[in-house]
Amino acid sequence: MADLAPEISIRRMKVEDVPVVHALDVLSFNLPWSERSFRYEVTENANARTWVAEVPQPGPARLVGMLVLWFFLDEAHIATLAIHPEFRRRGIARRILQIALNAAYREGARRAFLEVRAGNQAAILMYQELGFEEVGRRPRYYHDNNEDALLMTLENLHIYLSTQ
Ligand SMILES: CC(C)(COP(=O)(O)OP(=O)(O)OC[C@H]1O[C@@H](n2cnc3c(N)ncnc32)[C@H](O)[C@@H]1OP(=O)(O)O)[C@@H](O)C(=O)NCCC(=O)NCCS
Repeated sequence: MADLAPEISIRRMKVEDVPVVHALDVLSFNLPWSERSFRYEVTENANARTWVAEVPQPGPARLVGMLVLWFFLDEAHIATLAIHPEFRRRGIARRILQIALNAAYREGARRAFLEVRAGNQAAILMYQELGFEEVGRRPRYYHDNNEDALLMTLENLHIYLSTQ
């Protein structure tokens, strides 16, 4: 699949994006967030940084990716990340993560953290490729199928960013 990343633009999520972001979330996860949760992240949560990826089209750009990141002291927690199924394997997740983690570093984050379903091979491979390491497991964390969550961290955010 062609690497679309050079054509992609990454920007902060706006409240007007929320219906499309929510539709993308529903397409991507068994336990999607509510529209209200996304609206809260964009408009009220001072610890959230929210991003979208767009591809150019004739007419308005199409929103094909989203990322929500939470700050806890010097840690950036990747709360959710999804790319539209038709636009996967084109480097868009890698790109949105690079931009969001760079911005987080500039704001003081020194490590990144996330939870991922133990069976989500695509996401686990992606995070490993970016340098995340498995550091623990929460048994039966996801209540739809009792799947475990893997905890992954990227220590030394500055080293990761200097290699990008
Ligand atoms: C996981 C997800 C975000 C990846 O998005 P993406 O834009 O397709 O990822 P990228 O194209 O940037 O891939 C980066 C690297 O990750 C790995 N990767 C991504 N998807 C993969 C897959 N299906 N199989 C194997 N490796 C994969 C590859 O190493 C890839 O690099 P390469 O294409 O040069 O080989 C996307 O599959 C998705 O939205 N899934 C559903 C939601 C989800 O699981 N989110 C993560 C929750 S923690």
